Order: sequence, then structure tokens, then C-alpha cells
Amino acid sequence: KVLILDFGSQFTQLIARRIRELNIFCEIFPFNSNKFNVDEYKAVILSGSPCSVDSEDAPKPDLSKIKGKKPLLGICYGAQYLVHFYGGKVGASNTREYGRAKLSKVDHSEEFFTKINEGSQVWMSHSDTILELPKGYKNIASTEDVEHAAFKIEDEDTYAIQFHPEVYHTTEGKQILENFLVKIANVEQSWTPDSFVDSTVSKLKEQLGNDKVVLGLSGGVDSTVAAVLLDKAIGKNLYCIFVNNGLLRKNEFESVLDQYEHMGLNVKGVDASARFLKALEGISEPELKRKAIGGTFIEVFDDEAHHIQDVKWLAQGTIYPDVIESVSVTGGPSATIKSHHNVGGLPDFMKLKIVEPLRMIFKDEVRRVGKTMEIDPELLGRHPFPGPGLGIRILGDITAEKVRILQEVDAVFVNGLKKWNLYDDVWQAGAMLLPVNSVGVMGDERTYEKVVALRAVSSTDGMTADWVNLPYEFLQETSNKIINGVKGVNRVVYDISSKPPATIEWE
Ligand code: XMP
Repeated sequence: KVLILDFGSQFTQLIARRIRELNIFCEIFPFNSNKFNVDEYKAVILSGSPCSVDSEDAPKPDLSKIKGKKPLLGICYGAQYLVHFYGGKVGASNTREYGRAKLSKVDHSEEFFTKINEGSQVWMSHSDTILELPKGYKNIASTEDVEHAAFKIEDEDTYAIQFHPEVYHTTEGKQILENFLVKIANVEQSWTPDSFVDSTVSKLKEQLGNDKVVLGLSGGVDSTVAAVLLDKAIGKNLYCIFVNNGLLRKNEFESVLDQYEHMGLNVKGVDASARFLKALEGISEPELKRKAIGGTFIEVFDDEAHHIQDVKWLAQGTIYPDVIESVSVTGGPSATIKSHHNVGGLPDFMKLKIVEPLRMIFKDEVRRVGKTMEIDPELLGRHPFPGPGLGIRILGDITAEKVRILQEVDAVFVNGLKKWNLYDDVWQAGAMLLPVNSVGVMGDERTYEKVVALRAVSSTDGMTADWVNLPYEFLQETSNKIINGVKGVNRVVYDISSKPPATIEWE
């Protein structure tokens, strides 16, 4: 496996994802962590960083066990670090070094550049630049503006590049990573979805033995894939609970439950809609709604878990981005914007041990693993849906009637996206029920009814998002269907705000 030492770059997780796409397993650790053992890794990669090598808080990793001893690749800051602290010179550059550039000179005698073309596009993002290489370093590539775009340390398997091979805009970046890892470091490309399933299932068998495990299914990709893995490992000792909080999409509870049963999962559906509605009565503040929904879920789940005798474990669909420790070189952790990050996990009154089969993999890998286990592609391709569901899409207080209206509106919108083949072009879509009435006319009558907003966004991880340019004809048809078909709504608007500054949800 491969070790990635993180210096705080926004692209570090991308490095890991590209490497995983090459079917190579890798792990990310903060550069100053003491939680890894270098001896376990075949190669090491140093990430970029928002810091400058000169700054006081510049990361200064101890490379004594790595450099010259294992294949090592420095990227951006990683490259500058290998220069600055080993006798070379790094300084402010006088030309702009952001964005696209082209490799103008490539040393093809180096295996590192196998199949990399001169003129290949690379992505730069740094304000410092390498001015002078230390003794024993050899320049192996340049761009028009950057002389030392890449170098190698002679007599070592140490390579470094100032551009970012992990970003999509570096067209041959993945090939460079492959050259380094496969040709130079001789790492095996054996990390496949199938091998993950095999090794995870046997690890789970060993870890869980004859113990009983309880898992909350949500209808989403992560909990479903986690359930299928556990089902393969322990079969009927896995007890799945699927709670209807009354805030799911139209018919979702019945259809998803049906699907789970068809998959052979040991699942119990619990319809607790009334209990949730009651807990939400009169609450309109978004964070209080989240607390009421989250709190009720824990109560319902705990009640159900108590029906299972001798249950020892709670399974969770935690994925790798939730557990990677972040490096904070530029100040404290970012401010909490919404209380939706499902960390914190276990309520004290459930004294269960935790098992997390997806803990080491990324979202795209969860889908690949699901695919190899033959989970319905429609289920795997579903848009993300927030835990509090329609509860945070009904602005203001929640009533059964409002839920009914929004379920109808949402169904028209989402089914329309599917019918128009737009569903897969959109990362997430939904409708919001606004707490205002507007005046309209229907026939000769004046109406005073609800306004709904439609939202469809593109994104990769929900951290940033943009609104999708849906065809006017689609919006027209959808708006007509909603206004004519859903009683209580007389106006439809489309949300054209990006995130940031807006968020995806309205609450
Ligand atoms: P925002 O609105 O913060 O949403 O831009 C980003 C992503 O997070 C989802 N989201 C939630 N998920 N519980 C969840 O499980 C929540 O309370 C919650 N709030 C937002 C949102 O749907 C989007 O995918």
C-alpha cells in the first residue's frame, strides 16, 4: 500500500482517489501524525500545502525513514520542501503560476515520463517556485514559465513535480502516478472492488463471529452497501431496521422496503411517522427540527434494537472522508454551518461496539463495490437525500398536510427528471415548500396558495455546488404538472443560487 502525507492541500483526497482508481490501496495521514508505521508502505507521496516553505507554520515532516529508502514523490509543496530543506532555493515567482500550462520539455529517458507527451497539459497552483535545485538533483521536465516543473534526485527513487497530477485538468496526471507507483515503486494493482468484497467479508466474519449486529438502513447508497457486505458475512445475524420518519419521498418507505426484502436482507420496517410528526409539532427553527428528528430517530431505533436479544454491535455506513484526520495549517477547524455531520455517533444508552465496513473507502468506491455485488443500479445511482428528509424542505413548521403537498410536488419533479433523462446529470434535486402564500387565478377564481421552489444542483461532494441549467421545456412541463396536479400550490419558482454563498438545502 501507499502512504500519502498530507500537508493540508485541498487536493489531498483527490490524490488518494486517483491512486485508488489505479486499483492501488493508499492511506492519508497528517504529516505529523504518529498513527502510521512507514515500514508498512511501499511508496510515499507528499501532498501540496497552502503554506510557503518560508512561513513559520510550514510543515516540516521528518523524512529520515523515507527519503532515499523508499520510492518518494513530492507534489507542489512536497516538491518545494525537498528543495528548500536540502540546499536548494525556493522563492516567489515573477510569473503567474496558476492554472493550465503545457510541458515544454520532458526527459523521456526517465521511466517516470513513460507515455507522457511533450505539450501535455498540466495544472499549476503555487505562488512560490523552485529557483535552484540542490546538488545531485536532476531536472526532468519544464513548462514555458516553470523551469523546474519536475526533478529527480540521483541515486534515489525520489521524484517531484510542481504541478498537480491528481486534478482532472492535468490530462496525463493519472499516467504519471501510475508510472511512479507501478514502474518505479513496483506496487501491485490488486485493489479491486472484488478483492475489497472478499477481504472485507472475511474480516467481518472473523471480527463478528456469531455476534448479532444491528444496522439502520436509510435507503441511501452507503447503508445499503454496508448491509449487503454484512449480510454476506453473517447472514441472519444482521438485523436491519428501516425507519419511516414520515418525511421520506412519496411511496419511498414501501418501495425501498420491498427492494430490501427482495435482496434477501433481514430487514424490519418501522413506521414511526406519527411519532415524528408529534415531536415536530410547532417547531420551525431548522436546527431544532434537526434535533427533534435526530432525537426521535434514536428513540425509535433504540426501542427496536432492544427487541433483538443479545445484540452486540451497531453497524454504520461511515466512509473514508468522514474519518480522514484533517491537517489544519491555516487556523482552526472550519466553523460548523449546519449540525448535519453524522459524527458523534453512538448515544450513551446504546452500549454497542461499532463496526464500519466502508471506513476505508470513498463514495465512488462504495458505488463500485455495490455494483460488483450486483445491487440494483437504480439504487446505487440515487441522489443524496438528507437524514431529516422533507423536514428541512418544508420551511417553517411541519404538518401532515404540508408533507403531503411536498411529497406530491417532489414526485412530479423527480419523476420528470427521470423521464427526460436528466436525473443522472443532476447530483441532487428536490423541492422546497415555502412558508408564504401567493395570489393566483384559476378559472374565474382568485386563489391564495403555497409557493414551491425547485432546486437541482451539480456537485461532486456537496461542499460546493452550482444550479443546473435545466431545459426550459422541462421546467415548463414540470411547472404545469405541479400547478395543475397538486392541490394547494399555485406558483413554482426555480432556484438559481450557487453554493457558496447559498447552501443546497434551504434550511
Ligand atoms: P447544504 O444544505 O449544507 O447540504 O449545502 C450539503 C449536503 O448535505 C445534505 N444535508 C444533510 N444531510 N442531515 C443530513 O443527513 C442534515 O441535516 C443535512 N442538511 C443538509 C444536503 O442534502 C446536501 O446533500
